[in-house]
Amino acid sequence: MVTEQNFARHEEPCPTCSSGSFLIRTLYVSVDPAMRGWITEDPDYMPPVPLNSVMLAPALGQVIESKHRDFNVGDIVSGMLGWQDYCLSDGTGLAPVQRVTAVHSLPRYLGVLGGTGLTAYFGFLDIGRPKENDVVVVSGAAGATGAVAAQIAKIKQCQVIGIAGGRDKCDWLTTELGLDATIDYKTDNVEARLRDLCPKGIDIYFDNVGGPLLQTVLEQMATWGRIVLCGMIAGYNADKAVPGPANMFRLITRRIRMEGFLVPDYAPRFKDARRELSAWLATGTLKAHEDIREGFDVIPQTFCGLFHGTNTGKLMVKLSDPTATT
Ligand SMILES: NC(=O)c1ccc[n+]([C@@H]2O[C@H](COP(=O)([O-])OP(=O)(O)OC[C@H]3O[C@@H](n4cnc5c(N)ncnc54)[C@H](OP(=O)(O)O)[C@@H]3O)[C@@H](O)[C@H]2O)c1
Repeated sequence: MVTEQNFARHEEPCPTCSSGSFLIRTLYVSVDPAMRGWITEDPDYMPPVPLNSVMLAPALGQVIESKHRDFNVGDIVSGMLGWQDYCLSDGTGLAPVQRVTAVHSLPRYLGVLGGTGLTAYFGFLDIGRPKENDVVVVSGAAGATGAVAAQIAKIKQCQVIGIAGGRDKCDWLTTELGLDATIDYKTDNVEARLRDLCPKGIDIYFDNVGGPLLQTVLEQMATWGRIVLCGMIAGYNADKAVPGPANMFRLITRRIRMEGFLVPDYAPRFKDARRELSAWLATGTLKAHEDIREGFDVIPQTFCGLFHGTNTGKLMVKLSDPTATT
């Protein structure tokens, strides 16, 4: 299990710009479970963060000094700024934040209109391929991705059951987000509750968790069901490979499609997805919920808290306010 002691704070003078570079002040740092995988020795889809270097993290920042022709002072940018107050960049891997409309606050661009909202959008719609009246189960339902996936499922006229840890999260999912039912995996008998709630089986399982829960849900999938493998947080701190479900034969007998995906593959469609997500936000059919902590020093504990379920909605840390430039 990752702990705060795995990280150290280091101070050094703020860098200055040379030709072709610009200086960014970090505004909001995103806190994501995937970052746990970046600090293992497994060079899977991202090279591991080297020991004693700046921890990588998606973030929003503001250009405060520039000798770069494409980035001007005051611009808001997003990219892997990492856990640092300031960073020097030549623009590689950074994108200007193009506001869909002026009404969205900046944190939305790390949440519903950022990586996790887009993950929910493409995972649920492209991999899940919902049909009206489908029975949908979402694990990690009170988290950033799960909460958006569950709401998109409601927008698509599905019956939606959220699985989350704790009564408060479950109550929030039904009262605030309008889910049809919830299961508290920490205290309820998940298998029995699923049997009661889904007598005809589950059409789509949007899985953020993996582990034993995946096996439990798989057992109750309907014929022609779809399992969206979004994440497997139950195994991110394991020191050995987590065994897969023992009942994989069900995929064959019930013609179930189980498919993983990575959101960056959908980058060419991000703009259109943001437009649709934004329209749902405007009508109130989609609600954004950010869980924003404050201050550089709380970043490690906030990150570790992800694996103990301390967040509801999109978790991030605010480091500073943008400055007006007009
Ligand atoms: N495929 C992609 O491209 C992609 C992109 C982004 C994220 N993801 C994945 O999506 C999942 C959700 O990410 P997120 O950023 O939205 O995080 P999140 O859901 O906001 O936060 C993580 C949540 O996971 C739950 N959790 C933690 N440990 C658990 C365990 N052992 N068993 C069951 N639940 C556990 C906790 O909620 P409870 O209190 O309910 O336990 C916690 O709040 C992650 O698996 C992540 O890796 C995938």
